[in-house]
Amino acid sequence: MRAQPLVAVAFAAALTLVGCSSGAPATSQSPSAGTSAPAGGAGGEVGVFTWWADGSEKVGLDALVTLFKEKYPNNTFVNLAVAGGAGVNAKAKLAADLQNGNPPDSFQGHAGAELLGYISKDQIVPVNDVIDSLGGASVFPKNLLDLLTVQGNIYSVPSNIHRANVVWANPEVLKKANVSAEPADIDSWLADMQKLKDAGVATPLSVAGTWTQVQLFETVLIADLGVDEYNKLFASGANWESDGVKKAVGHYTKLLGFANTAASGDDWPGATDMVINGKAAYNVMGDWAVAQFTLKNKKDGVDYTYFPVPGTKGVFDFLADSFTLPKGAKNPGGAKDWLALVGSPEGQKAFNLAKGSIPARTDVPSDDFPAYQKTAMASFKSDKIAPSIAHGAAVSEAWNSDISSAISKFYTSKNQATLVSDLVAAAKKNTA
Ligand code: GAL
Repeated sequence: MRAQPLVAVAFAAALTLVGCSSGAPATSQSPSAGTSAPAGGAGGEVGVFTWWADGSEKVGLDALVTLFKEKYPNNTFVNLAVAGGAGVNAKAKLAADLQNGNPPDSFQGHAGAELLGYISKDQIVPVNDVIDSLGGASVFPKNLLDLLTVQGNIYSVPSNIHRANVVWANPEVLKKANVSAEPADIDSWLADMQKLKDAGVATPLSVAGTWTQVQLFETVLIADLGVDEYNKLFASGANWESDGVKKAVGHYTKLLGFANTAASGDDWPGATDMVINGKAAYNVMGDWAVAQFTLKNKKDGVDYTYFPVPGTKGVFDFLADSFTLPKGAKNPGGAKDWLALVGSPEGQKAFNLAKGSIPARTDVPSDDFPAYQKTAMASFKSDKIAPSIAHGAAVSEAWNSDISSAISKFYTSKNQATLVSDLVAAAKKNTA
């Protein structure tokens, strides 16, 4: 099975795809149904691999672990988390463990192209039975299930949906330059940054290491290309040297001109903390940032505000974490207990309340969620969807890595023509 064409099919149809989900499920590959598990859990150790190792990300994982221990007292949760936002360190360790036949019992993988990589390497097995016992298509959105499905087999249980195109802002800092309104587009936003700079704000925009730059860049691509043209970038033969891409590269260069200097490995909490501490006016970060504001006791609307990256209003730059059942997992029964919890209404509520994301399930009421998540839930329903590059929805791990190298090189060179030709080469190589 080849992953890449499926990815192209998937995103050419912009999350309303049909290509991945056709065909009959291979039920013979599916281990026994989650519903038949003994009360209290299958027993034994359940090793779960994520990159939610510390800070506000661990708060989300801990919420799930607490429930897991309550519901499945026979099982022993083993936390195999490897620190580093976006899985920058975790993914290499995971790849080695899978390669060496030493898989965890379950691991975090992004819905979309990244997951297809594990499927095409035959490293994970279908979990249709778990999804079915959780309510299947009546509780999970079809466009999300399609990103987890190949030939009728569903390969993971989604825990959440995150939004990547969010600007987090410090209202006190904005006041220094009388900048308050949400800018309409990138040019107006750049003008506001200049005003902030003139008013003595040294760092209008905070960035961290390479993956956060990739994420910033993808949001500028969405702004300048529009969601429909952006979604076409992931199909074979797509035009990565269009005027729109060049315009985005130009805007991105100017944005970096208003940003702090970051080392390639700097992690996201540092950049978000710059907004929290009033050292920066803005940070573009996924909505896991809201958990960081909460951790630091900051109040929505008072200590921080948020809006879609200018030019991307009405677009939800999407990513979803999901949990897998690796082939050769030592404790598949315990792993299924974990998956059943992750996909349950109470698991989704507890996790997403803590994580800043929104439930993947559609039957978890929004009433109990704070203001930010309520806006995200409404946007996810009504907005056009764009898959994230930095977080495995739009491109394979290999393509993401090539784009990251190009963005990292650009951070030092600021050579716009080279960035465009590197992006063209990466697209050619990874859709060949
Ligand atoms: C993403 C992941 C999110 C969050 C973020 C920062 O890739 O999907 O859940 O953890 O990285 O680490």
